[in-house]
Amino acid sequence: MQKVSEILQKPIFSKEDIVQLLKSENNDRQLVFAKAKEIKEQEIGNLVHFRGLIELSNICSKDCYYCGIRKSNKNFARYNISDEQVLKAAEFAYKENYGSLVIQAGEIESEKFTNRIEKLLQQIKKLSNNKLGITISLGEQTPEVYKNWFDAGAHRFLLRIESSNKELFEKIHPKNRNHSFERRLECLKSLKEIGYQTGTGVMIGLPFQTYEDLADDILFMRDFDIDMCGMGPFIEHPDTPLFEFKDQLMPLEKRFDLTLKMIAVLRIVMKDINIASATALQAIDPMGREKALKIGANIIMPNITPEKYRDDYSLYTNKPCTDEEPEQCKGCLDARIAISGNEIGCNEWGDSKHFKRKKL
Ligand code: 5AD
Ligand code: FES
Repeated sequence: MQKVSEILQKPIFSKEDIVQLLKSENNDRQLVFAKAKEIKEQEIGNLVHFRGLIELSNICSKDCYYCGIRKSNKNFARYNISDEQVLKAAEFAYKENYGSLVIQAGEIESEKFTNRIEKLLQQIKKLSNNKLGITISLGEQTPEVYKNWFDAGAHRFLLRIESSNKELFEKIHPKNRNHSFERRLECLKSLKEIGYQTGTGVMIGLPFQTYEDLADDILFMRDFDIDMCGMGPFIEHPDTPLFEFKDQLMPLEKRFDLTLKMIAVLRIVMKDINIASATALQAIDPMGREKALKIGANIIMPNITPEKYRDDYSLYTNKPCTDEEPEQCKGCLDARIAISGNEIGCNEWGDSKHFKRKKL
């Protein structure tokens, strides 16, 4: 068995190295976190960038086995925020100097939806004098749709692979053409080709998932050369098929800790990418997101969806801040970020350094 301190000196990690880092405990675990922190400080500095999160709609055409807003779940109300409310939220983000937005929604592939998003993107660009950066997370679409949205002003796209292990992917999704691993990969490739800063991510602590799978996820992200990552712990939702396996899961605290280790190892492997501190971390630990910012993450996504809809965007249980208005959220975040030893990069897009360096 190698020493963790020796692994951390290597310029390139093997899969076995990563497995060992993910399994590290006590002092070894601290070494991993310290190394990630050091690299973040060197490569990114201590600036944290905001993405005001707008959860546009929870109407979804997919039926993922883990997800609370899956099509087959009839136990909650579906909503679609009006254009006016989206623009109001964008204006709020602009005035508060957030720098950027993320627009997220359940997955819909239709001309009506596509055109609506295209128009909203143009309007947001206009109302902010081109100042707001826009990330979108709107699922699998055709290359033409991705290109239209890019031309309309979105410049970053987040599409999680969920798991880079095709077999595991197929265990957590229905087996049909609407949930295809290959299509997910094709979409990621086309986003990259079009010129988006491309982000992906996985869930951590899924049923059937091994440490080897997670190490492969990190290698997948490295080999795909992603620009951004958003990954978080899996949190079982009672109205989903995967809930059946709840007794086989790691305890929540362990999933939380493993997510921190995944973030730290990814930071060491991909030094200059953007890594988001997932909201799901806060669902487990009230200071979860701050802990991630301390050891490698540099992006945070305060929710600016109008309050009344937030309860219904329930991908997993115990989602934080669903009963606070955006103004409250921001105030509490300022303090939290200071606690994590970081500063807020106000009024900046906070683009992926990795993406910019590739272009040089
Ligand atoms: N636990 C944690 N994350 C989840 N997501 C969906 N359902 C869950 C869950 N139960 C994540 C998926 C998806 C993103 C929008 O939310 O990774 O891509
Ligand atoms: Fe649609 Fe989760 S099943 S976003």
